[in-house]
Amino acid sequence: MSRGRVVAAPAGERTLVRSGASDGAAAPIVVSNRLPYDLGASPTSARRNVGGLVNALEPIFATRPGGLWIGWDGRTLPNARSVEQALRQARAMSLPSGVTLCGVPLSERDIARYYNGLCNRALWPVLHDFPGRGVFDGDDWERYVRVNRRFADVVLARAKPSDRIWVHDYQLMLVPRFLRDGGFAGRIDFFLHTPFPPPEIFRVLPWRREILEGVLASDAVAFHTPRYRDNFVDSAETLIGAAPSRGVAPDRVDLIVGTARVHAAAIPIGIDVEGFQSLARSPAVQARARRIRAAHGDRSIVFGAERLDYTKGIVERLLAVERLLRAHPSLSESFAVVQVVVPSRHAVEEYRRMKRDIDREVGRINGELGVDGWEPIHYRYRALDRGELVAHYLAASVALVTPLRDGMNLVASEFVASRVDEGGVLVLSEFAGVSDILDGAVRVNPNDSQALAAAIHAALLMPVRERTARMRRLRPAVLANPATAWAARCLAVGTRPLGRLAAVPARGAGGPRNAT
Ligand code: F6P
Repeated sequence: MSRGRVVAAPAGERTLVRSGASDGAAAPIVVSNRLPYDLGASPTSARRNVGGLVNALEPIFATRPGGLWIGWDGRTLPNARSVEQALRQARAMSLPSGVTLCGVPLSERDIARYYNGLCNRALWPVLHDFPGRGVFDGDDWERYVRVNRRFADVVLARAKPSDRIWVHDYQLMLVPRFLRDGGFAGRIDFFLHTPFPPPEIFRVLPWRREILEGVLASDAVAFHTPRYRDNFVDSAETLIGAAPSRGVAPDRVDLIVGTARVHAAAIPIGIDVEGFQSLARSPAVQARARRIRAAHGDRSIVFGAERLDYTKGIVERLLAVERLLRAHPSLSESFAVVQVVVPSRHAVEEYRRMKRDIDREVGRINGELGVDGWEPIHYRYRALDRGELVAHYLAASVALVTPLRDGMNLVASEFVASRVDEGGVLVLSEFAGVSDILDGAVRVNPNDSQALAAAIHAALLMPVRERTARMRRLRPAVLANPATAWAARCLAVGTRPLGRLAAVPARGAGGPRNAT
């Protein structure tokens, strides 16, 4: 994590420069669990957060100055009294882009039961199709309700009737409902950054009705892919009797809930394309990439980077590398896997167990297959700053993005955007949302260890001409969808047609083992 340059703004003071966004729209009030910065003890000690959601949302304020972003202030307060006190003197700061960050305080108990509990032990596994990993606890639910109400109250204290409120992600699914209960009658949008599972899985959740009703208090609900949107629509229809109305607009299904009409859309998120491309072209990052390559001699670098999470398929990937080396001993010493794992959710036992599994497998595989002067897996358990990350993207011959399930996955897009040299091969799981819009990757089912090993093998041996041809097919879809365009499309739902991004036709899970 790096430190950010920030400008302090007195609590409660809103920068009201809500001047012209490039598309003529005013900046929305964004509400998310995390802010791009944890608001530290003093504004100058604010720490930058990493994560897909904040990385995608931050650039939108460059074209929509004067916005307000409300989220957890990053501190863990000891008790309810300190939360009450913090609410009276809410922390705020302004970024150079003009957006004001406004903090919502959370206590130790909130973190334990809302964030670690309901968000990450119950909702996260269910939304990612792992209901068997879910822990459903009534006290966690009670705390989730309470914290969602707190977020809504902070928004209500600052919103004007003419404001537009954009709520994000699974941590805050009740906020739209509480905003309505609090009397807000203006436009509310909701975006879910995770997958949404089919109704047979979602119905496992004891609070499925409350969650659906919470989200459906919005005017528009958006997802990364048509599959997630349709799963949500099916769940709303079968579990709470909402009536879908299809064909009203391209790429949109409307849901009639009581007397309300809610738009449900599929809008794949984009990345800060310009930021990644300009870093990739910078001499400093290119020099760093050369140093990384030099450290591995003439061996190919196979690169993976993700947050510690069982959805990311990290252990499965390590086992596929082992399988490849055992099946083809001649590959020994010809490549090195550089695997970055960003620490995450260490208070949740499932995540601690997974960290132990990764540590053990890296040690075992290196111990069994390494030789003097070479180990197959180079493991880093820390976050990389963006320059370091792009240098690794440039140094890699192959990027492995092989989650078992992932809402979108921004690493794949970042890798493609960074390859301004049109080099590198992307091995991509068919269970990452982004695989629906990318054509040119080596596509693989990460549950099939043999297929995954074969895909890595094919990527390593791929002739330069084919690598370039594939990267040339990959880049247009990523470059055409910067985060700012994604935001504009989200905020246009229900006001004008969405338009379409080039999509890869859906393919079945079958097909050749090293299917592309
Ligand atoms: O995938 C959705 C998402 O909100 C990401 O944007 C983010 O990286 C992650 O889930 C949540 O991470 P954390 O628990 O660290 O906030």
